[in-house]
Amino acid sequence: MAKEKLIELKNITKSYDGEIAVDHLNLYIRENEFITLVGPSGCGKTTTLRMIGGFETPDEGEIIMNGVLVNDLPPHKRPINTVFQRYALFPHLNAYGNVAFGLNNRSLKELVEFYTEEKVLATIKELFPNYQYQGKPSGLKLRKAINHLIDESVKEALKLVNLEGFEKRKVDSMSGGQQQRVAIARAIINKPKILLLDEPLAALDLKLRQNMQYELKEMQRKLGITFVFVTHDQEEALTMSDTVVVMSKGVIQQIGTPEDIYNEPKNSFVANFIGESNIINGIYKGDKKVFFMGQEFECVDENFENGEEVQVVIRPEDWDVVPLDKAKLIGKVDASVFKGVHFEHCVIIEGKELIVHTYEFVKVGEQIGLNVDPYEIHLMKKEAVDAEEVLEEILNLEDEGPNNE
Ligand SMILES: Nc1ncnc2c1ncn2[C@@H]1O[C@H](COP(=O)(O)OP(=O)(O)OP(=O)(O)O)[C@@H](O)[C@H]1O
Ligand SMILES: [Mg+2]
Repeated sequence: MAKEKLIELKNITKSYDGEIAVDHLNLYIRENEFITLVGPSGCGKTTTLRMIGGFETPDEGEIIMNGVLVNDLPPHKRPINTVFQRYALFPHLNAYGNVAFGLNNRSLKELVEFYTEEKVLATIKELFPNYQYQGKPSGLKLRKAINHLIDESVKEALKLVNLEGFEKRKVDSMSGGQQQRVAIARAIINKPKILLLDEPLAALDLKLRQNMQYELKEMQRKLGITFVFVTHDQEEALTMSDTVVVMSKGVIQQIGTPEDIYNEPKNSFVANFIGESNIINGIYKGDKKVFFMGQEFECVDENFENGEEVQVVIRPEDWDVVPLDKAKLIGKVDASVFKGVHFEHCVIIEGKELIVHTYEFVKVGEQIGLNVDPYEIHLMKKEAVDAEEVLEEILNLEDEGPNNE
């Protein structure tokens, strides 16, 4: 059964001082979905998340939650919690105090609603088995029961992020990864329907980051919460998400499953941003055939006109290295780098550079024979965009590196 749309963003636009941060964005988020916004620094990820959370109001467009327009609804009235890019914990509180903070700041009435009256009364019975009351229990007993429930919630949340036993630790004596987990526990304790996470793993080293990716995914599955996750790390986006939204300059470039995004990039921005790629100009020959680099190849795409100019995307790992007499393309290895598991070769064919990953070492200067299977050839519409502009944006991204704001 198709899951319900929980959030809809319709034609959302937001500018700051005349500069567009988010440009006519359309997106819906389903119940229980793990959806990730990914794109280079400044492309509008945080702005989009802040509008969903209610911390910013769109200039134009509608934000709809559960079918209701919420453009002007303040954050605390939305069924949402946020883990911010700068996860401001309270330094004077310990881990327990930070996690309990949200609940401790609610009124008694709100807390009874949160836990349900039934559960609160049952807790009073459990704590004070001999206590008799008519009508309403005393305020003191009620407070004690609520405190007991909050205590349970805090411990449960800390357990979920693997921080059992850290209750009394001052947060400034905790590692970056532990603090990050406190921030996540602080958000999930409210049992939000939707959790917004803005680059929650950016400050962690690779190993811890991978562990946390796994833990977060587990947590999302267990709690059945909808996650809207932001990262500029394409690998993280692909491994964690049900749906990936690739953004550039305030505009959505593509929405799809990780497989779609990786295998069928819609344009050269997506192809380049999501992993390294070879993008080669070609001509569609009709009947699932495409011509590029002086050869005709079988492919699987067919939505192109006979004779139409196309861009051919081939992932570096999808080339097959074959003996020269069986090869469709023969090139010369111009450079070779060992990448831990595979070798990355730069291969020159008729003056054009290809990136080819192989498990075997090929000497620089030697000839190499290449083939590619039809289903590894992905065709895109030829774009009017300036290839140099795309390249520049990607180089900028590499210069900046991980964003540890
Ligand atoms: N409060 C603000 N005032 C002025 N400009 C803003 C504000 N917030 C965001 N912007 C601008 O809007 C654009 C999008 O910013 P946003 O923070 O959404 O990017 P991002 O994709 O989250 O980037 P990063 O990966 O660096 O966090 C940027 O050009 C940014 O400078
Ligand atoms: Mg951001």
